[in-house]
Amino acid sequence: MRIYENYSLLKHNTFNLDIKTRWFVEYESEGDLQKLLKDEYFLSQPSCHIGRGSNLLFLSDFYGVIIHSAIKGIEVLNEDETHIRLKIGAAEIWDSFVEYCVENRWGGVENLSFIPGEVGSSAYQNIGAYGVEASDCISEVHTYSLKTGEKRIFSNEECNYSYRHSFFKMQENKGLYYITHVVYQLSKQPEFKLNYGDIKSYLEGKEINLQTVRKAIISIRESKLPNPEILGNAGSFFINPYLCIVHYESLKKQYPNIPYYPVNEKVVKTSAAWLIDRCGLKGKTLGGAAVHEKQPLVIVNKKNATGKDIALLAEEIRKAVYEKFKIELQSEVIYIQ
Ligand code: EPU
Repeated sequence: MRIYENYSLLKHNTFNLDIKTRWFVEYESEGDLQKLLKDEYFLSQPSCHIGRGSNLLFLSDFYGVIIHSAIKGIEVLNEDETHIRLKIGAAEIWDSFVEYCVENRWGGVENLSFIPGEVGSSAYQNIGAYGVEASDCISEVHTYSLKTGEKRIFSNEECNYSYRHSFFKMQENKGLYYITHVVYQLSKQPEFKLNYGDIKSYLEGKEINLQTVRKAIISIRESKLPNPEILGNAGSFFINPYLCIVHYESLKKQYPNIPYYPVNEKVVKTSAAWLIDRCGLKGKTLGGAAVHEKQPLVIVNKKNATGKDIALLAEEIRKAVYEKFKIELQSEVIYIQ
């Protein structure tokens, strides 16, 4: 277990904010974590478990304990002719895991190429892109409970997954389960999902295999989304909102091009990027924060932004979208203070 005092979180948040935590604790094994969960001083402090920090916004220095898993490793649990199940340490870099699957010709997560973050967070927030969600391939999530200190393994059903949501993100469960491993089930006979947006046109005339799909996804992401190492950001700041069909139909009369993704008979999802764009907010700045020019769903740290600059800009976006469309945008990014 590694313990640091007054530790900079600069390398642990992709907004690249230079904030500090009173304590930073990194555990390397389940044994370490069990010890930590019995430590009275730790249990008396405010705490927050993070992954790579690619979906977090720190509003100020943190006066407690930031915890990070350093559990790595990829283990084959079982396989047959069609599938393989792998147990992956929460601290494995998500995209290295995707690359490893693609190299081994195991399909399922290739559309999720190049998403920043770690494997543990993929299961926490059900990352998604290009028509695929992590939950499509998650078999189990291995956790420890902060309340009881006991190990608990969740099946896919118990994780209660939906769009960018899970059991672990529910208000009553937030922060109470630390993910140590995720079990992914991948297919040896991949079925490609190529219907989303630009993928088909990128692949026109090319052979379709896991490598070419991965390459296409990486090119699309690189052309739209800023690289957090160059321009701090946390990907989409808001989730795409759900609307009741009546609200959608009334907006459609005024805005015939409003994007439409059916959810069920009564609900549709629309595009937060489109709504923000229609409010004319591309490039808008507040302090050091800015709305990204190519994808307005992304807020960037343009020049020495503080967490508060980013939060205030997000608030302005939320207000503008509400005033124009009567839609309340919800953050995908998790605020920590
Ligand atoms: N759009 C505009 N103006 C723009 C950009 C986009 O109006 O400048 C509209 C267009 O109508 C476009 C639509 O937004 O068709 C959708 O854009 P895009 O395909 O880029 O996807 P998104 O809905 O904005 C979601 C995810 C992304 C994921 C992409 C691809 C959420 C919150 N975001 O974005 O995830 O990469 O789809 O699947 O669901 C992330 O979560 O950090 C993330 C990047």
